[in-house]
Amino acid sequence: IAKLMFPDGQFGWMITRYEDAVEVLKDNRFIKDMTKIYGSTGQSIFTSNMLFSDPPDHRRLRGLVQQAFTPKLIEGMREHIQQIADKLLDAVEGREHIELIDDYAFPLPIIVISEILGVPTSDQDKFRIWSNSIIGASNSEGSSEVYQHMQEFTAYLGTWFEKVRREPGDDLISQLIAAEEAGERLSEQEIYGVVSLLIIAGHETTVNLIGNGIISLLQHPEQLHMLRDNPDLIKGAIEEMLRYNGPVEFSTSRWAGEDLEFRGHSMKRGDLVVVALDSADRDGSQFDDPDLFDITRERSRHLAFGHGIHMCLGAPLARLEGEIAVNTLLRRFPNIRLREDAGKLEWRPGMIVRGVKEIPLS
Ligand code: HEM
Repeated sequence: IAKLMFPDGQFGWMITRYEDAVEVLKDNRFIKDMTKIYGSTGQSIFTSNMLFSDPPDHRRLRGLVQQAFTPKLIEGMREHIQQIADKLLDAVEGREHIELIDDYAFPLPIIVISEILGVPTSDQDKFRIWSNSIIGASNSEGSSEVYQHMQEFTAYLGTWFEKVRREPGDDLISQLIAAEEAGERLSEQEIYGVVSLLIIAGHETTVNLIGNGIISLLQHPEQLHMLRDNPDLIKGAIEEMLRYNGPVEFSTSRWAGEDLEFRGHSMKRGDLVVVALDSADRDGSQFDDPDLFDITRERSRHLAFGHGIHMCLGAPLARLEGEIAVNTLLRRFPNIRLREDAGKLEWRPGMIVRGVKEIPLS
């Protein structure tokens, strides 16, 4: 548990060990709704969602979309996701080089989340720019450009919601709008919040499960060969990719909601608390030989999807996309390797998302 001091005099805490991380993530003295501490300053439509709420709002907001992401429903998408993966690989078949992120790891989850929401997949490049910018994982310089991207994203969603009000379909946005029109279960601001959260989560995470996972395999050829020859090992392999090279480096921020004692440390109301998920997932007191990448590792309770009430809503979807994406790639391109002239892998900036910009393969 490391104490941090920011230039403005505020204190924060970084939690790096597994057991402490689990405790923080399930302790409701650490809150997510910063307006309880700082008033409405800093609140935007991008924080009017479950990830930045505490109970009872959290339960209400998560409950509205939860039924679209149950493991059973997601499993029903297997065949369709397989078709998407195959189509993306058909497009690069016969090429000497593939850029794994742009050609495959990025479009696959975007097509899926766009279809669930009912937004046009052809707008994926705009969503990519906006979501990269909002979570600070792009090279956007300065807050004015980020602000402009937020405005553009909001305007886009506003126009889209108008269209859905006129011509509803059977997609998730139509269901959210129907719920809003039917009663008071969520406000218009919260529709923006939930939809933007799903678009951002769909753009920034699974791409790096696939990307970081393939990097781990390429760096451990014996594991790659084992998986290629035994595709049934995929479920355990995905869990190990999530643990060893997780796509989310730090949890989103929490705040001490009161003056409190945590494992011998006195924390003041308003102190910032972040959990280093990737670090906790390499904690030797929880995982034997934690720096070893072993796709046959016995059941591992990693924290890549977080823990507690905010544990990732999209985990069943991300797991399924990861399984299909990795196995299909290894089946269709059994001899992939990093391009010799690839140079050093360049990691994206930003604290939350952990992934590389490009993975050139041949
Ligand atoms: C929350 C990781 C994919 C939707 C979270 C959290 C983590 C996480 C760590 C908790 C953050 C915290 O407590 O501060 C991941 C990883 C993914 C992934 C590693 C891919 C491998 C997705 C996808 C979706 C999604 C594909 C949507 C379709 C969400 C939502 C929350 C969330 C809505 C907020 C849940 C709540 O506050 O109750 N995710 N995620 N995630 N994730 Fe994911």
